[in-house]
Amino acid sequence: MTLRSVIEGTGSALPRRRVDNAELATMVDTSDEWIVERTGIRTRYIAGEGETTASLAVEAARNALDAAGVAPAEVDLIILATATPDQTFPASATIVQAALGINDCVAFDVAAVCSGFLYALTVADNMLRGGGAKTALVIGAETMSRILDWEDRTTCVLFGDGAGAVVLRAQETDDHDGRGILASKLHADGRHNGLLNVDGGPSTTGTVGKVRMKGQDVFRHAVVNLAQVMREVLELASIDAADVNWVVPHQANARILDATARKLGLDPARVVVTVDRHANTSAASVPLALDTAVRDGRIEQGDLVVLEAMGGGFTWGASVLRF
Ligand code: UT7
Repeated sequence: MTLRSVIEGTGSALPRRRVDNAELATMVDTSDEWIVERTGIRTRYIAGEGETTASLAVEAARNALDAAGVAPAEVDLIILATATPDQTFPASATIVQAALGINDCVAFDVAAVCSGFLYALTVADNMLRGGGAKTALVIGAETMSRILDWEDRTTCVLFGDGAGAVVLRAQETDDHDGRGILASKLHADGRHNGLLNVDGGPSTTGTVGKVRMKGQDVFRHAVVNLAQVMREVLELASIDAADVNWVVPHQANARILDATARKLGLDPARVVVTVDRHANTSAASVPLALDTAVRDGRIEQGDLVVLEAMGGGFTWGASVLRF
């Protein structure tokens, strides 16, 4: 038997307001045709009054706890991945903790932008297997709309808001076909800050800043890095790409999803795609897509699932798990 971190439940949350491409075309010089052809995005959800990163995270966490049949009091670790916290400090994870009525547990945020959920999941997995916690809530939540430049058509059409969460539990599982996270691999290369960043911060401009991206450069790096890290993680777990049931990728651009799947020789029908409905929700995108595919019955217990993401930093990573 091996001690592994098992996903016991998933949940997600979206803001009330859905915005389609036609509505964006009334705000900036763009069109439904351009956005669909270049990105695959048709709609995104945008947070309104009273909807924040933490409020979306709380809703996603409650849904994941319900699905897992786990009471909030059993949670001894909360890791929230976000680039858009409610406040500069304290960590939004502590806002979630208070809202769930959990009086004492470890709670902190992870900042790795679009790779944030993979980073948070890997940290939680290590803490669970190391004995530092038994039951973790791992959440990716964002309100990217609040840091977009709504006059910059090269970025504002790409992002959306939302949250996704998983309940992760340390369990003794069968060495060979037991459930749980089998392997993870993370990377960062800080030389690429200038290709994707926010042009502000508490310690520099004293302002929150707006998202800036050199899209074509990010695209090129994404396809190479994601294919490489997926290969690494499959090798670590001694799994053949042909045996993977589902890939749940970061949802940045439908063309990146296609190109990455092709590079690995994966059947595109096995790639979970939600970018058309949710756009790029940064740290929320992987758990949001995972929850979507679990709830619509595609991902079933026992399936081999690969999660992957790449984002600002650059940071990138992947995990392979038996769901
Ligand atoms: O989540 C973190 C990871 N992020 C990503 O992975 C994003 C990676 N990058 C991408 O997804 C793509 O590069 C974009 C979707 C951002 C851009 O697509 P592209 O095919 O690389 O377009 P481009 O930047 O080369 O722009 C082509 C043209 C330009 O016009 P000119 O210079 O050829 O006249 C842009 O100004 O499209 C223009 N353009 C637009 N036109 C209509 C850029 N944005 C828009 C727009 N609507 N929203």
